[in-house]
This record gives sequence, structure tokens and C-alpha cells, in this order.
Amino acid sequence: MSSRLPWGILGTGNIAKAFAKGLASSKTGRLVAVASRSKEKADQFGAEFGVKRCHGSYEALLADKDVQAVYIATPHPMHAEWAIKAAEAGKHILCEKPIGINHAEAMAIVEAARRNDVFLMEAFMYRCHPQIRKLVELLRAKAIGEVRLIRASFGFNAGFNPESRLFKNALGGGGILDVGCYTTSLARLVAGVAQGKDFAEPIDVRGMGHRCETGVDGWAIGELRFPGDLVAQIATAIQLTMDNQVRIFGTDGSLVIPDPWIPNRDGGSSKIILQAKGKTDEVVVEAGAPLYALEADTVAAHIDKRQAASPAMTWDDTLGNMRTLDRWREAVGVVYDSEKFETCSAWIQTRPLAPRKDRTMKYGRLEGVTMPVSRLVMGVDNITTMPHIFVMFDDFVERGGNTFDTAYVYGAACEKALGQWVKKRGVRDQVVILDKGAHTPYCTPEDMTRQFTESLERLQMDYVDIYMMHRDNPEVPAGEFVDVLNEHVKAGRIRAFGGSNWTAERTDAANAYAKQKGLKGFAAVSNNFSLARLVEPPWGGCIASSDAKSRAGHTKTQMPLMAWSSQARGFFAGRADPKDRSDKELVRCWYSDDNFQRLERAQQMAKKRGVLLIQIALAYVLCQPFPTYALIGPRSLSEMRTSFGALDIDLGPEDLAWLNLER
Ligand SMILES: NC(=O)c1ccc[n+]([C@@H]2O[C@H](COP(=O)([O-])OP(=O)(O)OC[C@H]3O[C@@H](n4cnc5c(N)ncnc54)[C@H](OP(=O)(O)O)[C@@H]3O)[C@@H](O)[C@H]2O)c1
Repeated sequence: MSSRLPWGILGTGNIAKAFAKGLASSKTGRLVAVASRSKEKADQFGAEFGVKRCHGSYEALLADKDVQAVYIATPHPMHAEWAIKAAEAGKHILCEKPIGINHAEAMAIVEAARRNDVFLMEAFMYRCHPQIRKLVELLRAKAIGEVRLIRASFGFNAGFNPESRLFKNALGGGGILDVGCYTTSLARLVAGVAQGKDFAEPIDVRGMGHRCETGVDGWAIGELRFPGDLVAQIATAIQLTMDNQVRIFGTDGSLVIPDPWIPNRDGGSSKIILQAKGKTDEVVVEAGAPLYALEADTVAAHIDKRQAASPAMTWDDTLGNMRTLDRWREAVGVVYDSEKFETCSAWIQTRPLAPRKDRTMKYGRLEGVTMPVSRLVMGVDNITTMPHIFVMFDDFVERGGNTFDTAYVYGAACEKALGQWVKKRGVRDQVVILDKGAHTPYCTPEDMTRQFTESLERLQMDYVDIYMMHRDNPEVPAGEFVDVLNEHVKAGRIRAFGGSNWTAERTDAANAYAKQKGLKGFAAVSNNFSLARLVEPPWGGCIASSDAKSRAGHTKTQMPLMAWSSQARGFFAGRADPKDRSDKELVRCWYSDDNFQRLERAQQMAKKRGVLLIQIALAYVLCQPFPTYALIGPRSLSEMRTSFGALDIDLGPEDLAWLNLER
């Protein structure tokens, strides 16, 4: 008995009870503890299911040394907080579906599991039932030929109760997240199997539906298009009874799963009805155990595999499903209050942000800036939604990053979102803000002040640490820009300044003027710098400093360089291939014979050192003989993680020269 996996359940609602009942007949698990926000409820649950350790708080269960695996059975918006805390407490996790309310939360949970080396699975119990294995087997054997169309629905009629979990905005109500997530996960599974993969991501997601007065979806349909023109029609509801079936149509027949989602709750058999070659067959599948027992046994069977997760629902599958749900909700217009700019909450983490103990960040100093400046600088223009911002920026800071790059031309939404995050997190005195303005055609001292004033309003700040002219205008004497920038420094609105896309000659002219007048000069420049040479600038008026003359100039003057497109916009991320010309911008800006040679050498070095290609490319920027700061634009936490790996790589002069084809 004691070799069985000891489980603790977090939450005492409907599904917690169903799981406790199922666990009692599992082959591998035993329920040792339960936690509720109220001790009384925990005791009641304990009495019903014979559990002795009944905790009056979720924290107490996570501190319980006898618990090894935690089942998170709270409403969806609480999943992320408690899954992350469970991972940090070293507990293996089975987290109810959907794993979070959006893709950003899912990323944060997956990264926490990875970092803390614990098992994690999203509790799609239907995937643990042998019926799904049989379905995959039939599709792989082409029992209905090539799959072309999938129809799946999951819905029920719960009337309308604004206070219930199903309808409450603050509890992530609505059909799409509650049961629509099953239909997306099945469609993605089937589309993947049809292409010989584990799952596939839709290239197009459309939808429409009805929103209740709480803003959550009462019913909705979705249309997904996968590569190969495989299409899926999905439907969900919390206010309509539906047929709750799956039908899959192929070139040689079709199949129906009459009970796809909650088959054999108490054990028994289920069936798949196959119509092909002019006949109808019933394929009977024996469950072997109650559904939730199968789920608990699936966890136990894969717990030692950690990141490899369970094939029933892998981490990448979960992340893809959450992204599809985001797109479906967007099509239907369901945005939770906690996700909106005005009402967004301090995302997931309620504790103050602080760099983690294992951080690897390196810092430099810029004259005038009081804080050390992190060598990796987080670009703000790739960030999409407030949840995405919280998850990405929080992670950046926890990894030791503190410097953010934004600009007036990135748009009001960008500057406002950065400002909102800084305000909500209360970290203004812990971060370095690099803002830029006066982009062509507004590159005059007057326009600069006008745009900068507006930027401060958008950022909700009274100063920025570094301000850069976003472009140069050679028709204006450099000294005129220096004069006005010094006025802003004197007024306390800027700590340091510089030029982005400024030539060495113009930078020298600005600094010579400043010296002569006893004023502050440029503290840094921000031009392109990367291992790959810019063949053609992505945008007008851009300047690269990757050539030998510029590097020699920076080495001599030690003028800090804040390198934009430091990773050559995907050239080193596995997207560049001389034969693949589909990414027009990549081809136009970075495709050249010598860049492909650099790519080849970087690949060789990465292999030899056991690191990633992208890390070698970024290390090339960081290891120059003059102060460099690499502007990065990760879109996901895994891109963030891999970028940070570059900080540990040391490249000497010989390595730099070899990578750059100078040896
Ligand atoms: N896989 C399945 O078959 C299945 C079926 C149903 C639901 N689910 C999923 O399971 C999760 C829970 O659903 P449920 O139907 O069990 O919900 P429920 O009956 O409302 O129970 C949720 C429990 O979460 C706890 N909780 C923590 N914070 C809460 C808050 N602010 N408001 C309300 N409850 C809170 C409560 O337990 P304490 O008061 O004891 O702390 C409550 O009993 C959802 O994510 C849902 O999608 C899965």
C-alpha cells in the first residue's frame, strides 16, 4: 500500500469528489490529504473519502511532506497560481483543464514545472481512456482513408446563474474554456494523427457565439483549418444541451464516437462506430477501470519522465491547445476582466517580483543611469496582451533582467502596456526604461520634445532612464539635438541619452559639441549589431554597426552599443535555409552567401559546445571587446530561456574572428 503514489487534492468541489472516488479504484495511487480554503470543508471532504490529513489552506497541503502528487481542482483562474506554487514545493501536478485561462498562464505553469523538475499534466481524462488509443490506431491504419473533416461538440444547459463558476467572469466562466477545450484538443489530436504527428496546430481559427451579460460565452461555434485543408467544426455551450459526439469524415468512410468526453466514469465499455467499405462496425473498447482511476494511473506511469510528460497530454499539446482557445475566444469576443488593460490583475504571482537565486544575468553601467543595466534588454514591441506582458516581463525580471526597450512609434498600446505593468508591479525604481522618439519624418528637436512628452504620459512615468533619438536627421546640426536633450536631463526627465541609427561621425559630432559646451553627450548608441550582416535594412533609415570599421571605432572609444535585431530576426533560430525563401523579410534582410557561412560556423560551434545555435549568435554580440547590450524580443518563455543561455557562453577573440569569417 505504501508504495502507492500519495496524492493530495486541492479544492473540494464537484470534480475533486469525482477524482477522489476514481482514485480509490486506481492501481497506483492513494489519497492522503485534501485542502480547502476552509478547514470545515476539508474535514467534511475527509470524512466522506476517508482522508485523515485535512488542511484548512492550500499552502498547508503544499507543505505536507507526505504528499507527492497534487491534483488541482479549483476554478480555472486559480490553476496557474497553485500549479506554480505546487511546482515550487516540489510536488508533481495533475492540473484540471483548462490548465490556465490563456496561453500566457499555460507557459508560466509549464516553465515552473520544468524549472522545478516536476511532472505536470493537464487533466484531460478522456485522453487517458483506451478509446482514444483505439481512435488513433484506427486513423493511423487509414480505416476511413484520409481524414478531411472533424465535427465535435460538448455542451450542456446550466440555465443562467451569474454567481456560479460557469457564468462568473472572475472565475473564467463560459463554454469555450469549460468544455470547448475538449473539442479543440480532440480536433488538434485527430488533425495531427492524420499528418503522422502527435497533434497539429490550426492555421486558421474562426468563431462566433453568444455572450452572456457577464461577458462569458453561453454558446459558441468554431471553425478550424489545419494544414492540408483538413477542417474542423466545433461547438460548445453552457446554456444548450448538445449531442456531445465526435464525427470524423475521411475519403473512405467516417466514424462516430458517441461518448467521447466522459466515457465509463465508473468503468465498463464504450464504442466507436465505424462506417467504411459499405458496412458499419462497432469497435468496443473496455475501459479496464473507472475514468478518473485511469487518469491517476497515467500520471503514475509517467511521473519519472518529468518533462517528457505523459503522451496522453504533453506540454506542447497543452500550450497549443491554450493558444487555439485564445484564438477562439478572440473570435467570439470573450476577454476576461482580468485580461483587460484597465482591469488587469497582478498576473498569477501575488508575491513581489525579485530575481531568482539561480539568475545568470550580467550587467553594465551607462553614464548617468543610476541602476546597473542588464546586458539583455527586453524589447516591448512583440508583446500582445496584458497576460502575455505580465508573464514575459515577470520572467525577465526574475531571471535578473531589468532593462526594457520601447519607442513612440511602437504605438500608444505598447508604451501604455509597459507603463501599466511597471505600475501594477510597483517596480519603477527597479527597472531601466529605454525609450525612443523623433523617428523620421518627425526628427527635429521640437518634434522630439512633443513625442517624448506624450511618451511619458503613455508610460505613466515622470522620467525615463535612457532616451534615444530613434533616427537621425543630418539636416539638423547634431548640437541642436544635444541642447534639447540636455534640457530634459536638467529637468529630471531623462537620466542618459543617445542615438539609435546614428553614424559614428554624427555621434562624434554630437559629443564634440557637448564637450565644447560643457554639456552631457551620448551615453550609448543603438544600431543593429549581430553575427549576420544586414544585407538590406528592415526599415528605412536603419544603420548597422557590424562591420570592421564600426567595431574598431567602438573598441577604441568604448562607446556602449545597444544592439537591435541582435539575433538577426530569426536567422539563427532555425528559420534560415537557402532553399526556403518563404519568409520574405528574412530573405531580403539577411540572406547572403557570407551570412550562410556564418550560420554554418555557428552551427558547428554550437554542436561542439553542446549549446544552441541561437545562443552562439547572441554570445557573439555579448562577447565583443566593447560594452554591448543585446536587445531581444522573445515571444514565449521558452525563447526567453534559450536567449538567457547565451550569457553563460564565453567567446574569445579567436572565436569571434572565426565566426565572423575573419579566420
Ligand atoms: N475533468 C473533468 O471531468 C472536469 C469536470 C468538471 C470540472 N472540471 C474542472 O475542474 C475545475 C473545478 O471545477 P468544479 O466543477 O469542480 O468547480 P466547483 O464545484 O465550483 O469547485 C471548485 C472548488 O475550487 C475551490 N475554490 C478555490 N477558489 C475558489 C473561488 N474563488 N471560488 C470558488 N471556488 C474556489 C473551492 O474549494 P474550497 O472551497 O474547498 O477551497 C471549490 O469547491 C475547473 O477548472 C473545471 O474546468 C473538470
